[in-house]
Amino acid sequence: MKRLIIANWKMAPQTSREALRLAQGIARGVKGVKNVEVVLTPPFIYLLLLKLGLPRLTRVKAGAQDVFWEKNGAYTGEISTNQLKASGVRLVIVGHSERRALWETNEIVNKKLKAVLGAGMRAVLCVGEAEKQKEVAFPKIIRDELHEGLARIKKSLFRNLIIAYEPIWAVGTGRADTPKNVYEITTIIRRELYRMVGKRIASKIPVLYGGSVDEKNAHAFVKDGAVDGLLVGGASLNAKKFINIVKAVSEV
Ligand code: PGA
Repeated sequence: MKRLIIANWKMAPQTSREALRLAQGIARGVKGVKNVEVVLTPPFIYLLLLKLGLPRLTRVKAGAQDVFWEKNGAYTGEISTNQLKASGVRLVIVGHSERRALWETNEIVNKKLKAVLGAGMRAVLCVGEAEKQKEVAFPKIIRDELHEGLARIKKSLFRNLIIAYEPIWAVGTGRADTPKNVYEITTIIRRELYRMVGKRIASKIPVLYGGSVDEKNAHAFVKDGAVDGLLVGGASLNAKKFINIVKAVSEV
């Protein structure tokens, strides 16, 4: 399976000029890199800019950090799957821990996943525990995030699902998890997905790691952590660092 690296720019950069420069720098830097798919998820306001500003042939794609679940209607401030699709987006992050910290529940995440997968786009479901306690991480938190987040979603739609394991204590802290722990937790996640949708479908669902990924640890997470890719926050705002991460993963 081709590895997937997603850049989560969060609420940065501050100007469209910087956003375009960053996207173009990354696109140039990863041009010849094989076996890795690169998706940049900028703030909504830069999506069209990326669509227009990245040369057609570049393999770097644009994705979204969030979406609203209704297709259309009077919802001030929200963005629909239709609008994202029209802006060239084919991948949407859902249930990022920073959004869950604001107000998103598993129920809301479920509505968004239904909307994204139902619209034929890929959804990245973020799961992860707040405290570094292995005993509670899966049975109490991640298991619920998977089951409640994916409740009543047609199995056939799981072909467009991606899971990102992001322990909250590792996100934006500079304290990344260890490849060994990531291997253990993602193995449990994969096993649960088998139970939920059967091995044939589950074995095709990419499982990523995110949380303080940098140039130095990226290779080990993919090699020893055995994940299918990475979700990169802070380090994705520096073109050079992000390009090095993509290159490191392409060599695994
Ligand atoms: P980080 O963010 O790489 O800055 O820890 C990861 C994320 O928010 O997905």
